[in-house]
Amino acid sequence: MPSIPVARPRRYLLCEPRHFDVRYTINPWMADGVEVDRERALAQWRVLVDTYGRLGHAVETVDPVVDLPDMVFAANGAVVMGGRVLGSRFHAPQRQPEAAAFQAWFKDAGFDVHEPESTCEGEGDLVPVGRFLLAGTGFRTVPTAHQEAQEFLGVPTISLRLVDPYFYHLDTALFALDDENVAYYPDAFSPGSREVLRGLYPDAIIATREDALAFGLNSVSDGRHVIVAPRATGLIAQLSGRGYVPVPVDLSELHKAGGGAKCCTQEVRTA
Ligand code: ARG
Repeated sequence: MPSIPVARPRRYLLCEPRHFDVRYTINPWMADGVEVDRERALAQWRVLVDTYGRLGHAVETVDPVVDLPDMVFAANGAVVMGGRVLGSRFHAPQRQPEAAAFQAWFKDAGFDVHEPESTCEGEGDLVPVGRFLLAGTGFRTVPTAHQEAQEFLGVPTISLRLVDPYFYHLDTALFALDDENVAYYPDAFSPGSREVLRGLYPDAIIATREDALAFGLNSVSDGRHVIVAPRATGLIAQLSGRGYVPVPVDLSELHKAGGGAKCCTQEVRTA
């Protein structure tokens, strides 16, 4: 019998989309000429923040910086495990200045930040699942950053290769349901990486391409409640079937930049 999903209170870091925009194209979602409704983005983001509060999670925010329109995607700013903060080194020049802004927030909050030497986009590609760190590569974070993460964080780090540009970050193709299990979209991964995932997580929730394209896998789970894109209807049904509580939050404006709920959410894991 699978155990009943239990929530654990979390500490989240987010960044208000005050300067959010689509001004350059660094992933296939950021089509040229896409128009962003910033007020709508702000309203959707506030629902996300309120939802975390209602579920009993602590939310902190880092000040958004003018001319950094992607800074709302706070997950990319670092990865934190056991109070150790691995900072980021962004792939795209347009996003590179974000690293210092996130680093400054962590320093103010009392954390030391380890700066990676290789391209490394935080929780976008580095997804903690219990004792392991799943590490994506192929589009942004490079394999040498996986080694740096393992050395610095001291957790077994498992490299996975992404092959579909629509799922350019690991957190667009996979999320942690709890410390033991994940949901993912197999075709986003190379054959070898698919085999690794099958072996590690035989009971994983397998998502369809449709649900993955709706950013259903860019979800945030507290172990019980899963903040999920409302259009990922198949995934929502699967989550309910396993005893999780899907909490749909619509972030369609942020989707235009290739991001969803998880991209907006950095988890500060101090334990
Ligand atoms: N426009 C941003 C980029 O391409 C979106 C980042 C989404 N973040 C994420 N964690 N997947 O870098």
